[in-house]
Amino acid sequence: MVYSIVTGKRLMETKIHSSLRTVEWKDNVVVMIDQTRLPNELVYVKYTDYKDVADAIRNLVVRGAPAIGVSGAFGLALAALQSKATDKESLLKDLEQAKKILFETRPTAINLAWGLEKIMNIARSGKDASEIRNNVIKEAKAMAEEDIEINMRMGKHGSQLFHDNDTIMTHCNAGALATVAYGTALGVIRATKESGKKIKVIATETRPVMQGSRLTAFELKYDGIDVSLIPDTAVGYSMANGLVSKVIVGADRILHTGHVYNKIGTYQVAMMAKQHNIPFYVAAPLSTFDMKSAPSDVVIEQRKASEVTRVAGKKTAPDDINVINPAFDMTPPELITGIITEVGVAKPPFEESIKKLFEPKL
Ligand code: MRU
Repeated sequence: MVYSIVTGKRLMETKIHSSLRTVEWKDNVVVMIDQTRLPNELVYVKYTDYKDVADAIRNLVVRGAPAIGVSGAFGLALAALQSKATDKESLLKDLEQAKKILFETRPTAINLAWGLEKIMNIARSGKDASEIRNNVIKEAKAMAEEDIEINMRMGKHGSQLFHDNDTIMTHCNAGALATVAYGTALGVIRATKESGKKIKVIATETRPVMQGSRLTAFELKYDGIDVSLIPDTAVGYSMANGLVSKVIVGADRILHTGHVYNKIGTYQVAMMAKQHNIPFYVAAPLSTFDMKSAPSDVVIEQRKASEVTRVAGKKTAPDDINVINPAFDMTPPELITGIITEVGVAKPPFEESIKKLFEPKL
């Protein structure tokens, strides 16, 4: 499955908008960066079976809300190719089964459900099996391209909020590696730099899966953006000592009330930013908004204990210790300065401003 340990030559080929391409559809094969192997090796894996794509999402080979939304769509496109069905009803049945398997991989990021539903709607509207197969593949590929465009538009809106000489803190990885390319929070950082402003980034390491140190530090260095890495425990120190001008993070789900679900630890960073009067921004596409759920409906993924009791495979806690390992937390709207999207920036009060984001523009 792994087809290349990337050399300098390959790196040049995969540069898109000066960043990495995380997931791609190439000749009926899904190609993605294996993020579990970063930053040690930049390796691409290839999948032709949707069940392998489901495993890749579950095991964090691909992660980040928009990236798993598009990967889910590609998974369904593979399922359409794998199905032996010759009529519409049988193909839809096979796709429903694949959708269920893909959906059950990760519960918190709403982009996964969004991507799967978008493809299923396209499939349902096809007239026969052959048309459905063609349309599903076409739509999944279009979703990947749109993701990049959306991130770039979001970047333009967001870059107006950041100034020359800002030092911007970010948590987890909401970058090219969490999307198809360019990134949401890191897309805003890229766009700010592209607009000619000098900026620096502080990345938290983001225990326990280390998306900050393994992925954010890697991709910002890869693109030549000034980045310093801190342990999660140094957020307070950095803010109290004037090292941080603004914070920007991504999101896995945003409710219509402005409650933001993102990587575990985001809530602590937002609290600390409030304490130090530091603006706290969230960047996410409209596909991350969940306009129906209340906080009590949102399932927070709980991950395995070994992520906490081991570092690089080595035991760092006593045997049989009880572990609590939630993958996400919720930041309440009162801690958020603005939510940056591809159609503009929502400011408090969020119930009103989020509603406006979805109104058709004349
Ligand atoms: O568990 P992960 O790595 O999938 O969590 C990712 C995050 O929490 C990101 O901040 C979020 O998905 C936004 S990505 C643009």
